[in-house]
Amino acid sequence: MKRLLILLALFTTITLQFCFESRNLQKGNIEMADSSKGLKDYFKKYFIMGVAVSPRALKSEESAMILSQFNSLTAENAMKMGPIHPKENEYFWRDADSIAAFAKLNHLKLRGHNLCWHNQTPNWLFKDAEGKQVTKEVLLQRLKEHITTVVKRYKGSIYAWDVVNEAISDKKEEYLRNSLWYQICGEEYIAKAFQFAHEADPEALLFYNDYNEIDPIKREKIFRLFKSLQAAGIPIHGIGLQAHWAINEPTRGQLDSTIQRFTELGLNIQFTELDISVYPKEHNSREKKSKDNNTIFTAEKEQKQQEEYKMCFELFRKYRKNISAITFWNISDRTSWLDNFPVRGRKDYPLLFDESLQPKKAFWEIVKF
Ligand code: GLA
Repeated sequence: MKRLLILLALFTTITLQFCFESRNLQKGNIEMADSSKGLKDYFKKYFIMGVAVSPRALKSEESAMILSQFNSLTAENAMKMGPIHPKENEYFWRDADSIAAFAKLNHLKLRGHNLCWHNQTPNWLFKDAEGKQVTKEVLLQRLKEHITTVVKRYKGSIYAWDVVNEAISDKKEEYLRNSLWYQICGEEYIAKAFQFAHEADPEALLFYNDYNEIDPIKREKIFRLFKSLQAAGIPIHGIGLQAHWAINEPTRGQLDSTIQRFTELGLNIQFTELDISVYPKEHNSREKKSKDNNTIFTAEKEQKQQEEYKMCFELFRKYRKNISAITFWNISDRTSWLDNFPVRGRKDYPLLFDESLQPKKAFWEIVKF
């Protein structure tokens, strides 16, 4: 009898243990496989979660993944001045319109990128019919015509515009970039761009957008620009920090002090072009060397990238009251602009989704809070 009781007790313990473990396993599986939850859901109470796209991506298998993960879009190229306004009297709307239509159909937010930049500008912009450089009056008139036409077309569809992109110089001693905009118009083109955009759509939030904001010297120059625009009463509502980062930068201290500094402006902060390269940061493009041929996404790179993403999102959440949106620059590691920058043809893996569009470890790391 005693033996029977011992056997019964043993049997019950083993059975209970088995049930308990299998329930835990199931729970774990459910969590790992919860594909119904995307970034937009995890960060629902924190930020708008966006992604930069091409019209082609929206017609591909990536579109379903975009809809499950994000609630905001930015046109990677389609709204830039060169693509959208190739000739003085000719606009090319197809690509930008298709992105705007997709956003509308699927109730996604849309950021406009961008209205005035020194890159990807059309050839005709700075030249007159004889090929001579135009005057300040002509250039500002062209800027006004461009901004008014584009902003009015997407009025009500685009909630925020990057009005001026990258006007600050990277050279330590130089304040504003010595672009053709600056050479022809002086500093004034920046304020004018904001005024034209505000007149065209008084509801749109207007951003100044730039990169390498974590560099203390550049950061202060961006800060100075904001202060001067604010002092002059120029309509400017937000600071766009591009956030093209890497496994070794920014450090926690650098990012914390950067965000802290910009909160002093009392404006909306958005991270507009986030990616984290798996190579140590290089700021300038260069020739490919033999060591660049090793492009395997090793466990070490994966680990470092995961830690960097984790740290960035911890700080984003710390400053959640000041930050309204995070936009990733490209969808997945399948393809990104970093495959060609700073080294042409060197494969990078900067995003949260792998080449099969599956969430990477970094993804699970940032949604765990
Ligand atoms: C800058 C621009 C973006 C894009 C990236 C590189 O950050 O703002 O529009 O061109 O460079 O892809």
